[in-house]
Amino acid sequence: MVDLSTEYLGLKLKNPIIVGSSGLTSSVKKIKSLEENGAGAVVLKSIFEEEIAYEYEDFIKKAEKTGSPPKYFDYDGRKNPIDYYDYKIREDNLNKYITLIEESKSNVSIPVIASINCYYHSADWIAYARHLAQTGADALELNMFFLPSNFSRSKEDTERIYFQVVEKILHEVSIPVALKISYYFTDLGPMIQKLSKSGIKGLVLFNRFFSPDFDINKFQVVPSFVFSTPSELAISLRWIAIMAEKVDCDLAASTGVHDGDAVIKQILAGADAVQVVSCLYNHGIGYLEQLLERLKSWMVSRGFKRLSDFKGKMSQSKSIDPSIYERAQFMRYFGGKKNVKTY
Ligand SMILES: Cc1cc2nc3c(=O)[nH]c(=O)nc-3n(C[C@H](O)[C@H](O)[C@H](O)COP(=O)(O)O)c2cc1C
Repeated sequence: MVDLSTEYLGLKLKNPIIVGSSGLTSSVKKIKSLEENGAGAVVLKSIFEEEIAYEYEDFIKKAEKTGSPPKYFDYDGRKNPIDYYDYKIREDNLNKYITLIEESKSNVSIPVIASINCYYHSADWIAYARHLAQTGADALELNMFFLPSNFSRSKEDTERIYFQVVEKILHEVSIPVALKISYYFTDLGPMIQKLSKSGIKGLVLFNRFFSPDFDINKFQVVPSFVFSTPSELAISLRWIAIMAEKVDCDLAASTGVHDGDAVIKQILAGADAVQVVSCLYNHGIGYLEQLLERLKSWMVSRGFKRLSDFKGKMSQSKSIDPSIYERAQFMRYFGGKKNVKTY
């Protein structure tokens, strides 16, 4: 018998596999099936500030087209339709999300982590976080990303926003907070380390983004690959291994985990938990059982009884050749030299 239990963000998980934020976690029914199929925890589909803003713009556009702009409404003492509808759409979305959290909590016993995805209007993050933290969610995952394509904003300014938002949110909420980030930082290692010391309980390395592609016949911008591929594991594996013993918070690995071996690799690198999304879209949620089976049988074959027996065994800090994690060029691969290190 092996023990797969672990702790993440101070929460007890029966196993380290977390179903990441996505359409797979958007309803109570789906979350119940994920629990039945073995998920250790779930991160709910994010509440998107961006989506709410679009819905609002859409509403205003439709109203303008039909020539029946919304009537003035005396909201909060201000006769302003724009404010009212903005407020109403935000409130409706928030209420739907709160219901999802409350119903999930009363229907499953695994930890339920709420998720907020905002990338502008930083004041709204704080209000959402405060509301969601009061609903019984076990933790909050903040998906924070400001594309570094603003030519008038310095890297210092971009980075400062992360710390400002984290500080404000931690001031407002008492449940554990995790930050899901990208690898688009100039000083990635130091940035991860600094964030880990900001009071958050966990970092999710890394988010994977919706990216544009081109339809060359219609000259249109279309969605590119929505799902990750197994080769995308490499980036988060390297950074979990590099950061594992250099951070003051838990680490969850995300992106490119497509089989049980990838789960094992991320734990060897030092991950406290491993998030999966694309592989469940590809194979169905029953695939969770296969991931767990592979983890268990590998542990038995290696004589490991619990995750702590091998967690971080292959992190950079434990490596006999730490430089191998920092090697970025193909020199050796093509040079034909032996490139294998045993732990
Ligand atoms: C269809 C789909 C919807 C997603 N929705 C969200 C979301 O609402 N919030 C979020 O933080 N990440 C979202 N993600 C990103 C995933 O949580 C995850 O970070 C990404 O897919 C990489 O993990 P994977 O390689 O296991 O798929 C979504 C991914 C997919 C494929």
